[in-house]
Amino acid sequence: MQTALTEKLGVRHPIMLAGMGGVSYHRLVAAVSEAGGFGCLGASTMGDEEMVAEIAAVRELTDKPFGVDLLTAAPQDMPSKVQAIIDGGASVFVAGLGVPREVVDQCHEQGLLVVNMCGKVHHAVDAVDAGCDIVVAQGTEAGGHTGRVATMPLVPQIVDAVGSEVPVVAAGGIFDGRGLAAALALGAVGVWVGTRFIATPEARAVNGFKDRIVSSDETGTLVTRAYTGKTCRVLATEYADAFERSGEKPEPFPGQFLRSLADGANHLGGDEDTPDVDPDKEFMPAGQAVGAIPALLPAAEIVEAMAADAEAVLAALAGS
Ligand SMILES: Cc1cc2nc3c(=O)[nH]c(=O)nc-3n(C[C@H](O)[C@H](O)[C@H](O)COP(=O)(O)O)c2cc1C
Repeated sequence: MQTALTEKLGVRHPIMLAGMGGVSYHRLVAAVSEAGGFGCLGASTMGDEEMVAEIAAVRELTDKPFGVDLLTAAPQDMPSKVQAIIDGGASVFVAGLGVPREVVDQCHEQGLLVVNMCGKVHHAVDAVDAGCDIVVAQGTEAGGHTGRVATMPLVPQIVDAVGSEVPVVAAGGIFDGRGLAAALALGAVGVWVGTRFIATPEARAVNGFKDRIVSSDETGTLVTRAYTGKTCRVLATEYADAFERSGEKPEPFPGQFLRSLADGANHLGGDEDTPDVDPDKEFMPAGQAVGAIPALLPAAEIVEAMAADAEAVLAALAGS
């Protein structure tokens, strides 16, 4: 399935692994890229040295293209972080929160594409004005930090606003070939998928996270400021419920994040050996697609099935 995205990224399938902090580490990124999708490291939970080591570990496992997502960085740290991403051999830099104006030229001069996550039409317009090459239109269904507009209305509105200038990728609630076909029907050129890839053997996760993904139904998430101070869709926990019921105001960033750490409710970036994780408290970002995930599957199988099923859906629609 060739689209403007596969052409731009140099990949077989228009399927991007979301750069999920704490989850999208080298094994998952390499597995998605090797399968013909586009893997993205989630570097937000990594220190500088760890990020460089993770990039090198991706390169050991695959020579296919991949990207790196930084949720946010202090403006003075951004150029050096981005230079490490470029030097490591990534081909895409993804900015998770905010338009990365200060590093667009640096990326372009050294051949890197810049991707920006957007939850509103005006974010996408600002990103394109700043020179970003691809925008991801992320609906509120998505896991992690999220806005208020759903994927179905958001994607075509962003396509109408900027789609003639840059490719638009759809995100939020997409977990199979039907979602990919729907995204293409809305005018997107591919998908950016997070939650479905948490339930893979290759994903990094603390104990209990993958089990909760598999056992939750479609109502099993909520949007809360309990863990980071920003609106974030997570698996519902007693900790998040109690915070919401209390009516408490979150501390400004990074205060609330530090508070959830101090409360022993935030081990994102840890793995199955991380001690003292309580799944009734833990910070486990996830989207409304959780209800559609019955089991862990290798990442390559998810990529291949998504691409094949989308083609079948589109062929069936064309033939009817
Ligand atoms: C565990 C988790 C961590 C995430 N961390 C980040 C991040 O660090 N940077 C970012 O841009 N987006 C992050 N996101 C959002 C994803 O990039 C993506 O937009 C979202 O997962 C797509 O929706 P879906 O989960 O319904 O597939 C995260 C999402 C999850 C589930």
